[in-house]
Amino acid sequence: MEYIVIKGQKALSGRVNISGAKNAAVAILPAAIASEGICIIDNLPQIEDVTNMIAAMESMGATCKFIDAQTLEVDARGMTGFALDEKFAKNMRASYYFMGALLGRYKKAEIPLPGGCDLGSRPIDYHLKGFRALGAECEQEHGIVKIYAEKLTGANIYLDCPSVGATINIMMAAVFAEGTTLIENAAKEPHVVDAASFLNKIGAKIYGAGTATLRIRGVPALGGGDYTVLPDPIEAGTYMLAAAVTDGDVTVNNIIPKHMESLTSKLKEMGCTVTEGDDWIHVRGCENLRACDIKTAFYPGFPTDLQPQMAALLCKAYGTSTITENVFEQRFRYVSEMKRLGANIKVEGRMAVTKGSCIYTGAVVTATDLRAAAALVIAGLCAKGETKLRGVGHLDRGYERFEEKLRALGADIKRIKI
Ligand code: UD1
Repeated sequence: MEYIVIKGQKALSGRVNISGAKNAAVAILPAAIASEGICIIDNLPQIEDVTNMIAAMESMGATCKFIDAQTLEVDARGMTGFALDEKFAKNMRASYYFMGALLGRYKKAEIPLPGGCDLGSRPIDYHLKGFRALGAECEQEHGIVKIYAEKLTGANIYLDCPSVGATINIMMAAVFAEGTTLIENAAKEPHVVDAASFLNKIGAKIYGAGTATLRIRGVPALGGGDYTVLPDPIEAGTYMLAAAVTDGDVTVNNIIPKHMESLTSKLKEMGCTVTEGDDWIHVRGCENLRACDIKTAFYPGFPTDLQPQMAALLCKAYGTSTITENVFEQRFRYVSEMKRLGANIKVEGRMAVTKGSCIYTGAVVTATDLRAAAALVIAGLCAKGETKLRGVGHLDRGYERFEEKLRALGADIKRIKI
């Protein structure tokens, strides 16, 4: 068993480099198996979800070779399979992208229902509705989704809500559909744009990525190409919040500041000093943080993936703050653990209310999912005394060298194996 030990109350300072975006990497890698050429993918984060994704691709016959620690060559010309083993799907939400990639290229896919963070019910009905609209038959048997099509034909598809996964998945299949596909009410997240840019780089014709309407003109095949994954806005936001919570002074490098706007404006509202350049943001904390309200929403709204880390900061602010979670029904599971550290926070339905100005004190806490783990680390960083975090495996799925990067900023944090 592993756990993380943090000795808190050390203000973070210095610079931190942000890695490639997890959610972009785990979409681009499966998209590469739809290619009939060689793809070189750069700026891949060294995290477990990427390692698992590569193992899944190899299990179906793709050849993957690291050129250096962040650059992978994918050769999917020798693909033999179109069925994914359950062991790859159970911990990784993004395994659902094999549906769109395989359906597009091979017109068939057998993919177990995806796992990933437990944030309540996470259906994939929009994905399947989109595949059906393109002419595929989809059925579920023994936990496996079987998808098959004679041929794919362009269609007009309206998403009931702008789901990231459904947008990317349907887009991947539609790349190979005869004619034109319109995806209306599409997700606009940066990683949707990144996945579309990668597909376009290798020969797809996707227009409008980053807007609510995607137009995709089908092509018969995709070739190879090289591509650099965008920087991770959620990793960047996690370090910005760690800086703010410890009243620190941190520059977050190698990012796209525009992707951080919803967080930047909230940090300013709370009293932090935030300045930015072309590819960096500098955060200086503030002793008397002011309360504020956040509501999670689809991009460019406040990201649900930063909600738990933001809560760790709001619990320290003076006054009453509200946190409304609009994307995932059960994203407050970290709250009971944060209370062990002294947070004054209460959940009612989709809203959490914190009375703030808490002084965290170290305790033994357990992470329930990836971002919950990051939030508990953030709270532990400014807690009096020692915090022990269990369930650290969640962090390895999504943060590259998390403790090492925090130590370089002055945190007293280490991992212990027993
Ligand atoms: C992706 C991200 C995740 C992030 C989330 C929201 C990846 C691998 N994961 O997850 O980190 O928290 O976007 O930004 O990129 N929904 C349906 N039916 C569907 C699909 C979605 O009802 O078929 C609902 C979901 O339950 C949820 C909402 O739509 O309430 C948004 O989900 P979605 O954007 O699809 O999230 P994921 O792709 O699962």
